[in-house]
Amino acid sequence: MHVVITGAGRGIGRALAEWYRAEQDEVTGTARDGSETVRMDVTDPDGPAALARHLQGRAVDLLVCNAGVYLDKGQDLDTGYPDAMWADSFAVNVTGVFRTIQVLLPNLRASAQGRIAIISSQMASQNRAPGGSYIYRASKAAVLNLGRNLAVDLKPQGIAVGIYHPGWVQTDMGGSAADITVDDAAQGLKARFAALDMAHTGCFETWDGRDHPF
Ligand SMILES: NC(=O)c1ccc[n+]([C@@H]2O[C@H](COP(=O)([O-])OP(=O)(O)OC[C@H]3O[C@@H](n4cnc5c(N)ncnc54)[C@H](OP(=O)(O)O)[C@@H]3O)[C@@H](O)[C@H]2O)c1
Repeated sequence: MHVVITGAGRGIGRALAEWYRAEQDEVTGTARDGSETVRMDVTDPDGPAALARHLQGRAVDLLVCNAGVYLDKGQDLDTGYPDAMWADSFAVNVTGVFRTIQVLLPNLRASAQGRIAIISSQMASQNRAPGGSYIYRASKAAVLNLGRNLAVDLKPQGIAVGIYHPGWVQTDMGGSAADITVDDAAQGLKARFAALDMAHTGCFETWDGRDHPF
């Protein structure tokens, strides 16, 4: 199996890449510092295009859109959430995901069973809405919506799309007080991706296999 993982240089993405490689799957990982197969910043206009050039003519069986930022932690409702923070967050968490998927559609179509996994968050949920972190929540809700609509458009082509909450994970983003380790998250997500088929396309699931409320 050939797996493409964005943001594979650290955190959840790195753990996923390690687990797939340990099982002899082929992984094309991306990182901004050149530490992975392809150097890519998803906000760079040529970033996803460079990834597509690197993979030209090669089937991709699973694309994991994992790269993400959480820039508005602790922002103040009255004085915070500047415009640039909205733009920067959406450029990575939404536009970057869309562009990566768009440029790799030929590669996904070339697989017998192309699948797309989008790492969103429980913070995307409309039902579970405790307030705060408006930018991150809005961006993760947007990418959940994007995944749900892609699932419909790509269904006739046999490409399944799943959207996932990876858990509250001990990474640079999640912090050391988070609930689970990167290995717990990666192993759980890997099982969810393996279960992703056309019957489950459009799902919003947690790392440990529960349906997440929209
Ligand atoms: N940790 C949690 O508790 C948690 C909870 C819910 C959802 N998530 C989601 O899970 C995903 C992974 O999070 P994480 O905890 O592993 O975060 P992390 O440790 O902060 O790592 C973030 C990853 O995203 C990449 N990235 C950031 N901006 C990028 C850009 N402009 N272009 C390309 N790559 C970029 C980083 O690459 P560089 O190394 O190049 O910076 C890094 O690999 C994110 O989508 C996050 O929103 C995490």
